[in-house]
Amino acid sequence: MYSASDKKTPLQYGSAVSGGPAIFKEILVVYTETFAPAQRGFILSNATSIGSQPPEARPVAVRHGASLARILGNYDTLVSTEAPMNSSPDSTSRREFIKTGAAISALANVAIPAVHAAGSDLIQIALVGCGGRGGGAAANALSVKRGPVKLVAMADLFPERLAGDLNKLQRQFQSQVDVPPDRQFLGFDAYKKAMDCLKPGDVVIFATPPAFRWVHFTYAIQKGLNVFMEKPLTADGPTSQRMFALGQQASAKNLKVGVGLMSRHSRALQELADRVHNGEVGEIILQRGYRMHGPGGYFLSLPKPAGISDLLYQIKRFHSFVWASGGCFNDFYIHLIDQLGWMKNEWPVKAQALGGRHYKVSSEGIAYVDQNFDNYSVEYTYADGSKFFFDGRCMNGCEEIYTSCLHGTKGMAIASKSGDCGAPSSLYKGQTANAGNLLWESKVNPDETDPYQNEWNDLIDAISDDKPYNEVKRGVEASLVSSMGRMAAHTGREITFNQMLNCEHDMAPGIEKFTVDSPAPLLADANGRYPLPQPGIITAREY
Ligand SMILES: NC(=O)c1ccc[n+]([C@@H]2O[C@H](COP(=O)([O-])OP(=O)(O)OC[C@H]3O[C@@H](n4cnc5c(N)ncnc54)[C@H](O)[C@@H]3O)[C@@H](O)[C@H]2O)c1
Repeated sequence: MYSASDKKTPLQYGSAVSGGPAIFKEILVVYTETFAPAQRGFILSNATSIGSQPPEARPVAVRHGASLARILGNYDTLVSTEAPMNSSPDSTSRREFIKTGAAISALANVAIPAVHAAGSDLIQIALVGCGGRGGGAAANALSVKRGPVKLVAMADLFPERLAGDLNKLQRQFQSQVDVPPDRQFLGFDAYKKAMDCLKPGDVVIFATPPAFRWVHFTYAIQKGLNVFMEKPLTADGPTSQRMFALGQQASAKNLKVGVGLMSRHSRALQELADRVHNGEVGEIILQRGYRMHGPGGYFLSLPKPAGISDLLYQIKRFHSFVWASGGCFNDFYIHLIDQLGWMKNEWPVKAQALGGRHYKVSSEGIAYVDQNFDNYSVEYTYADGSKFFFDGRCMNGCEEIYTSCLHGTKGMAIASKSGDCGAPSSLYKGQTANAGNLLWESKVNPDETDPYQNEWNDLIDAISDDKPYNEVKRGVEASLVSSMGRMAAHTGREITFNQMLNCEHDMAPGIEKFTVDSPAPLLADANGRYPLPQPGIITAREY
């Protein structure tokens, strides 16, 4: 069981992108594929406006000057420390889903073919969750420096998602993709069948909505598989406790586990972290993170259309529903929260926050039914009383800022210049990021500018060299700190790290037994609306 005393950890892992426009665009293209067609415009326009500029021409990150006078809050000692860190078409009908799923699964049930050659160095990969990031992660896996690596099995809930990723990967990687129909699996138990195709020591990728992470991880550990799992890892307290325990079990079995917080593998951020930890900005007294742009991903959802169950609708549009993903807060904001915790070398102990729903009616006058606030403004407090202010907003027509930075007693640093971990990172004397104050700017080897690729090279190196590698603990902690900020906004109450960890609201009970006929964790009212956060009114849980 995880306790507060485990929380303060040397966050020594990982490091980022000095990538120029091409890399930035590539990332955005992969990510864009996960979006509903109507929502792609936002991201693609970002790709054009940010990605097409060379990094040095992108807007200077620091534009919102939070006053240093705001930083000195109450010192509290909520946490004592010390514990080393081990370091759609949306219209797909249910009938179609069941029919196709049954056909493929029935074939698969006949026999699960052995796909590995005993004694070979080949690392086999299975992909669970064949969406935008799943396809991207599989492409990264198939592009590692060490290997050989082959994709041999895939699992999803929807046939068109699986087919989409498979076709793209086959075109790009040809003989490295060997996923015949009898190793393509659909349904809520597809993850097991895909993992059954692997041998111990192979790697399974989890890129479904986060709610399924602990279920799938449990089976991977049983099967002795190494894992790459996408962020966030959890959205609530009970699953966080479960994931901490599973992370320890994985280490006990010497399994290697990568978590998709790719900032930690940005070489620019790694060097910045070293410099910050060596005192180059002095004591950190303020951090700021901003992710503010128009509505993206599945941030907004209209009432469920006919022809799809509530459960499948909520899973498909997982950014809209807190149980499935932690909402836009966890899904969109975790990277900046994670990298600033890393720079500080500890996690905030509490949060208080504001937020609200302002534009929740479509241009046709239909009320959106997602659970997200349009904006979030969080004041995180560290154990030493220093502050981390985070602003998140999904609104069109407003100032767009997407960056992270930190201020210390000797100077300041830009962590992500633009985007989740966009290089260059930089250090300045004084508190203003201008050319005259510049002390250091990151420079990264051309073959290490993509943190998504670096995280896979690092994982496969650890597997090949049998080095300890387990990013679960810090992945759960970053998820918990995200949830803490979200819950503070949703309840209107101060939430501590420990309250979040021990909050008993299990948002998706019974998820390990879900079938296509299971009721959804959220039930709609007669107008198709789901329960919403009501700050100050619903305070013991979020909705
Ligand atoms: N690290 C990053 O920068 C980054 C970028 C994008 C997404 N992500 C993460 O990757 C995950 C997936 O996001 P996405 O954008 O690819 O979403 P997506 O909707 O494109 O893909 C998710 C896929 O999982 C499938 N799925 C859902 N439940 C499943 C289940 N129980 N079993 C099997 N398949 C299931 C869906 O049908 C879909 O194909 C999320 O956790 C997200 O936060 C990370």
